[in-house]
Amino acid sequence: MRQIDRDSLPHLVDVFCRMTKRYYYTFWARIAARWWGVALCPNCSFSGRPRFRRHPQSRISIGAACKFNSSPFSNLIGINHPCIIATLREGADIQIGTGCGFSGTTIACAKKVVLGKNIRCGANTLITDTDWHNDDVRTNPDAPVAIGENVWLGVNVTVLKGVSIGENTFVAAGSIVTKSLPANVVAAGCPCKVIRPILFL
Ligand SMILES: CC(C)(COP(=O)(O)OP(=O)(O)OC[C@H]1O[C@@H](n2cnc3c(N)ncnc32)[C@H](O)[C@@H]1OP(=O)(O)O)[C@@H](O)C(=O)NCCC(=O)NCCS
Repeated sequence: MRQIDRDSLPHLVDVFCRMTKRYYYTFWARIAARWWGVALCPNCSFSGRPRFRRHPQSRISIGAACKFNSSPFSNLIGINHPCIIATLREGADIQIGTGCGFSGTTIACAKKVVLGKNIRCGANTLITDTDWHNDDVRTNPDAPVAIGENVWLGVNVTVLKGVSIGENTFVAAGSIVTKSLPANVVAAGCPCKVIRPILFL
């Protein structure tokens, strides 16, 4: 147990405030999820107010024990917008596995976005399976996105349409993933390329 003195007081007050806000926002996020018809499994927690938008005749399902950070006070990484989980068209399908963590992450789906278990999404990450303006001749058709279990997306990573990422892969900060990545590698850059394998001891 940490001793309470002048040195530790600011830290402890901050921890207490963040914990209290988490309870408050989790309560309201559960109501919002129910309102939007989002299938939310137990033990998910919310820090800050997320945005759910489910288009009619589409599906959003979120596995147990996922964490959503949606406000700059949630952590110290510099979240600049709330988590946004949105289906954009009829038939769209977002499936999020258990134990995933999100900080100011946008998941916007026109077709299918599937996230495995225990995926970590750093601050301000974007995952989308569409170019959004499909009526514009410069765009290509929507294409599903699949991210394997235990993948880690660093801060400000963007995952674009048609991409799949193999399990355990680490996508470095600021990368833009335009093509699929294999499992068990570190990948980086714009466009994102494999830089080395991950060696498991
Ligand atoms: C992925 C990461 C861990 C790799 O770190 P590392 O092991 O120290 O990097 P490496 O030494 O293996 O780098 C290998 C090469 O990739 C390049 N590289 C590393 N990160 C890069 C990035 N984000 N973008 C582009 N290139 C990158 C390095 O410059 C290096 O290039 P070189 O071989 O030409 O010199 C780190 O770059 C990273 O992104 N960390 C941030 C994680 C994060 O976002 N955490 C907070 C949110 S959850």
